[in-house]
Order: sequence, then structure tokens, then C-alpha cells
Amino acid sequence: MPIRASSAPNVALIKYWGNRKEELRLPAADSLSMTLDRPTVEVVADHAGYFSARSFEPDGTPRTLTEKESTRLEKHFLLAKKYLTDISVAHAFPASVSLEIRSNIPRSIGLASSAAVFSALAEAYGGFATQLSRRDVSVIARLGSGSASRSVFGGFSAMIAGEGDAIGASYAKEIAPANHWKLRDIIIVPSHKEKETGSTEGHVLAHTSPLFEARLRAIPQRQKTCIEAIREKDFEKLARVSEEDCLDMHAVMASSTPALRYLSEETHRIIREIKELRAREHLAVLYTMDAGPTVHLICEESALPAVRGYASAQKDCTIFEAEIGKGSRVV
Ligand code: DP6
Repeated sequence: MPIRASSAPNVALIKYWGNRKEELRLPAADSLSMTLDRPTVEVVADHAGYFSARSFEPDGTPRTLTEKESTRLEKHFLLAKKYLTDISVAHAFPASVSLEIRSNIPRSIGLASSAAVFSALAEAYGGFATQLSRRDVSVIARLGSGSASRSVFGGFSAMIAGEGDAIGASYAKEIAPANHWKLRDIIIVPSHKEKETGSTEGHVLAHTSPLFEARLRAIPQRQKTCIEAIREKDFEKLARVSEEDCLDMHAVMASSTPALRYLSEETHRIIREIKELRAREHLAVLYTMDAGPTVHLICEESALPAVRGYASAQKDCTIFEAEIGKGSRVV
């Protein structure tokens, strides 16, 4: 029987950047994010004699996977199988699989689909196993894309770095469910240019930055503050710690060798204007950027009209809106 699963991206509030073991995507530090409810990715996995993967655009037209993408998907399947065998739940697991991946993420909105794709795949692979915990599903998601582990949970979730080299050493856990705090994400995409360096290649360079060690020392306290802010629904505290961490990650990126500069002039202009607007109108809004110039404006419902108004006035930008999501699931 084929298994169908669905998931969506997440936006990081404490950023994951750098691994302690690249092949297994074992992160160098904890991170934390808010799971979005859209745009979704759906996958179907079925038993097959050999591995194959087909991908479709939001409008249903087939999209040819690059060699790199196919290799990553197959490697992920093999790692998932290894992990499920290691924890002795792979009895009915397929020798190989055929995959169909339908992404509703328009290329133009600057949101990476990997977190949604690999968490949905983890869900589907988990469906072939017996008695799998949510933590195990998050480990399988992590093996395809580190941040995907966090999309397994809805609401707010943390990726725990853990210790050691075991496959299951790092996993995600829920900090608060989707209905805890109804924040919104207004996404402003200033550029449609494809990224030059993807996150997988970027993580490898983190260690070359002279700022990376200090970042690793700062994260435990930031993670703690961020969790407190979420539990207490203290927006100001959340804004302070997440903006500090975001700028710190981009400073690490920009000071690595070679330097990774994901933010554009437009990104900096939006940040400046949002800070002014927030101060002037006392708005509960914060900005954050992942590995690209796209700005996420996370806000409370009270700030929504002003933030929407600001976003819709941006020329040559694509605007996208999401709410907090429930995480990946078998459908
Ligand atoms: C900047 O999860 O995309 O978005 O494990 O190589 O797929 P891979 O990396 P990825 O890295 C995410 C980087 C980030 C920050 C974050 O989401 O925490």
C-alpha cells in the first residue's frame, strides 16, 4: 500500500547553521522554529524493486529532478532504512521505494522546500515501520535536511543537538502546540534569483568563520530565552533574542571563507523600515531571514493590518502569508 504524507516549511527563530558531522546532519548547536501551515508539500511513497523519484510543480507539470536532488533523495532513503534497522522497527520496510513529490511552494516565494519535503518523506517512511515515536520521525527527517526535523512538530519546536555521533543523537521536540500563540508570518520576497550556495554547502563553511565559536557559546542562553519568550508569550523578548540570533548567523555566513552574503540591499531597507514602523506604531512584529534575502515578518494578530499594509506597498516584491501549522502527518 502506498503511503501519502504532507508537510510545510518552518521559519527559524534560533538558527541552525553548522554541523558537527556533515554526512548525518548532526548539528553543532540547538535551534528553534515556528512551523508554518502553508505552502504544503505532499509525497507518496510505495514499495518498489528499485529507487525512483518523480517531482511535480504546483500546477501539476512534471519537474525533472537534477542528479544532485535524486542522489540526495536516494541517500536519505538508505539512511532512513539504516536508522529503522538499527532501532529494530524495519521488519516490513520496503527494499526500495518509488516516490512522488508534489510541492505547492512556488519558486518565486523564496522558501526552501527541503524542510517540507524531507519531513513529509520521514512521515511516509515512518508509516512503513511499526511503533515509531514522533522523535524517531524527526530523526529521519533530519537525515535529509537538518531543519526538516523541526517541521515534524506543529507550533513551536526545537532541534536538540545532543551529543556524540549516533544517528539518533539529535532530534526535534515540541515546545508549544500550534494553538498556543497565534502568530502570523508575512513573507516579503525581494528577489527571485536562485540561491548561489545552498544550505547544505553553506553549513560546511560555518567552521571557517572566526565568529563561529562565539556563536556556539551564545546559543544555549538564546535558546533558553527563546523558549521562555514563547511559553510566556512575551513578544518583545522573542523579537530581541531572535533578531540578535538572525543577525549573528548572517555575520557568521558573511565572515566565512568564501563569504556567503544572502542578504540584499532590499533586505536591509526592509529591516530599517520595519524597525521604524514598529517603534512609531508600537507593533508586535519581528524580522528574520534564513539563507536568502527573503524577510519573514512574524507578528501578533494586533499588528497584522499595519504589517500587511507595509508589505503590500512593496514594489517588485512577492508577498506570501502563512499561519502557524500543525506539522507533518500521514494523510
Ligand atoms: C538558514 O536545513 O536547509 O534556514 O540540512 O543542509 O538541508 P540542510 O540545511 P537546512 O539549513 C537551514 C538553515 C537556515 C536556518 C534554519 O532553518 O535554522
